[in-house]
Amino acid sequence: MNAIMLYVPSWLIHVTHKLPFPAIKKFQHAKAAARKYAINMIEDEKRQISLDKYRGDNDLITVLAKASVARGKMAMDPLTDKEIHHQLTTFFMAGLETAANTVSFGFIDLAQHPAVQAKPYEEVKSILGSAEDRDLAEGFHFSVLDTMPYLIAVINETLRLHGAVHSMILMATEDNVVPLL
Ligand code: HEM
Repeated sequence: MNAIMLYVPSWLIHVTHKLPFPAIKKFQHAKAAARKYAINMIEDEKRQISLDKYRGDNDLITVLAKASVARGKMAMDPLTDKEIHHQLTTFFMAGLETAANTVSFGFIDLAQHPAVQAKPYEEVKSILGSAEDRDLAEGFHFSVLDTMPYLIAVINETLRLHGAVHSMILMATEDNVVPLL
């Protein structure tokens, strides 16, 4: 399917998006509503930043809006609302289902193999403690994962068995060397 998609001209894809089928109309309607909502949010965010609010916040939308306002002040082309919207959409698409599906498959595999499940559980508990003796809302530093080799192995095996991104339609135009750690 991916190979076929490479040969479908983009104008044809655009035409299919305009076909008068109820499902396509519904999709376009939802897309327009989401875009309008996002643009309103971005405009509001920029307005607040211009008023010097949200200084310390570093969530994605605030960072992008701040970058846009800062570029404008430095006489550079600011990021347009459309560009910010596209970046947000990319992160949303790239980050949500990938992580959710990987975690779900990992849990399914562990549930099906109770003996394996006990090992990462004991490892995490021995390092972070259990929910009874720790406020999980406090979170933990990323580097703590380095001290949990079994958990990392479980994550790697989950990614190997159920890769959330199993194929790409992008093709390298020339050979390259991927640096390994
Ligand atoms: C299990 C989780 C994930 C997997 C397996 C995964 C996998 C991938 C792969 C294979 C690519 C393409 C890399 C390439 O172009 O060669 C990619 C790109 C990307 N991923 Fe992830 N990803 C995951 C989670 C996330 C999360 C949580 C975020 C953000 C919050 C994210 C953001 C992105 C972005 C921004 C790109 C670049 C998209 C582009 O080129 O336009 N990913 N990811």
